[in-house]
Amino acid sequence: MTRLEVVRGDITRLEVDAIVNAANEALAGGGGVDGAIHSAAGPELLQACRRIGGCPTGQAVITPGFKLKAKYVIHTVGPIWRGGSSGEPELLANCYKNSLDVARQNGISTIAFPSISTGVYGYPLEEAASIAVRTVEEKKLPGLDRVVFCCFDQRAYDIYSGLLAH
Ligand code: APR
Repeated sequence: MTRLEVVRGDITRLEVDAIVNAANEALAGGGGVDGAIHSAAGPELLQACRRIGGCPTGQAVITPGFKLKAKYVIHTVGPIWRGGSSGEPELLANCYKNSLDVARQNGISTIAFPSISTGVYGYPLEEAASIAVRTVEEKKLPGLDRVVFCCFDQRAYDIYSGLLAH
């Protein structure tokens, strides 16, 4: 049985096997959660991302966590919100599915997700949160003990908490 949890805070501080990064296709680093993860992990993370070279929207790749408490960072690229009829819901769901597949392939038993695409990429929070929770709930998660939805602000925390209570 996998436990699903919501926490409010900074994902870089969490003690889980893997944290998920809301990256860009170039894996070039950036602001938001991506910037926070790169700062906390140290410059080796960018070097590891450069070696991988990039990641298409909806896919996921893995690197070590370097200076983070988390052993791994799984980098996934959320869709940029363009109004909702450009495949955004499917692409966002793929981020969660592919990150969980990468986690399973690497023997990860605890993982934390930020709210992918809901910052710079403009995805409406309620819709993105509902896709995140539904996709994780519907996926078979052998070997996974705990999935954490890490919310940076109170509004996100309230929305995710409401979804998980049902
Ligand atoms: N811990 C957890 N969540 C965080 C943190 C943090 N330290 N910092 C920001 N967030 C939250 C934001 O509040 C938002 O809800 O992460 C969510 C995703 O926002 P962004 O980081 O802006 O990610 P996204 O919308 O997917 O945009 C990705 O932003 O910085 C660039 O390189 C990144 O180009 C990529 C784009």
